[in-house]
Amino acid sequence: MPEVPTQDRRPTPIVLDCDPGHDDAIALLLAVASRAIELRAVTTTFGNCSVGDATRNALRILTLAGATSVPVAKGASGSLAGTSELGNYVHGTSGLDGPELPEPAFAATDLTAVELIEQVLTVSAEPVTLVATGPITNVATVLQRGAVDLSKIGEIIFMGGSADRGNHTPTAEFNTYADPEALAVVLGCGLPVKMVGLNLTHQALATPKVVARMREMNHHVGRVAAEWMGFFGSSYRAIWEFDAPPVHDPCTVAALIRPELIQWRKCFVAVETAGEWTRGTTVVDLYDRYHRPANAEVAMTLDADAYWDLVLDAVDALGQAR
Ligand code: BDR
Ligand code: CA
Repeated sequence: MPEVPTQDRRPTPIVLDCDPGHDDAIALLLAVASRAIELRAVTTTFGNCSVGDATRNALRILTLAGATSVPVAKGASGSLAGTSELGNYVHGTSGLDGPELPEPAFAATDLTAVELIEQVLTVSAEPVTLVATGPITNVATVLQRGAVDLSKIGEIIFMGGSADRGNHTPTAEFNTYADPEALAVVLGCGLPVKMVGLNLTHQALATPKVVARMREMNHHVGRVAAEWMGFFGSSYRAIWEFDAPPVHDPCTVAALIRPELIQWRKCFVAVETAGEWTRGTTVVDLYDRYHRPANAEVAMTLDADAYWDLVLDAVDALGQAR
């Protein structure tokens, strides 16, 4: 695999559970390219699109990246409560509208996402990090089933929620709105949990300068990434009046590769499952008003320049190797 400069340490084994999605796509490229990460499996969920489309998108992205030996499994088609909120209004009909992508050069396994995560945990000699960049239904189901030794989960890091405002509703972020009961399971599981919410990811803006750096790489992967940002950017302009789109999901992977890029705060986090107007809202107790033990580390500030250097180096390394 192409090389991205990283610190000198053993790669972190991960499963990336996602709903690609333009920003999930960049997270996948970063995970594939980085030598600090060992991508053991990719699992999919409903979210930005149906789980069928998300699975097809994951296979196409991994084909683009030349990572066709990574096992992929299709996961949840709806939340624990049986709802199926979709984000096509942001990511387009396919969930990944914009540039033409290669047809998948390989197929998903016959296992479900939950079965594949359990298999990865079972055979692993060391703890595995579960990274979730969509509704967190698959991870919650693994925890609820308890069919494997859960101490094999090193930590769970998810993109979702916010210590500020929301996006899907005024107070709720999309992933946490889509399955708040699943997030409640994760927040109550007692394992190390890191939350990368909108308060952090809104610092990861794909500015015109960033997009120009992608385009100027002068290879296919760079051009595809630039066009993804173009589509994603127009949604963010039209819906939320952003000048540049926040590229949320790769912040989770970047946190594993270069932990020093993010400053964290340990605190108590809850998710609203019953509010009339606030369902899916994360309640982040930054100032310990509830006097409850911390159950998560919450991402607070991002070194955005270093983040983009890391992401762009990964995209470039993949493009050069193709
Ligand atoms: C989250 O929802 C989706 O639009 C993105 O892929 C990201 O995971 C941001 O709210
Ligand atoms: Ca996502």
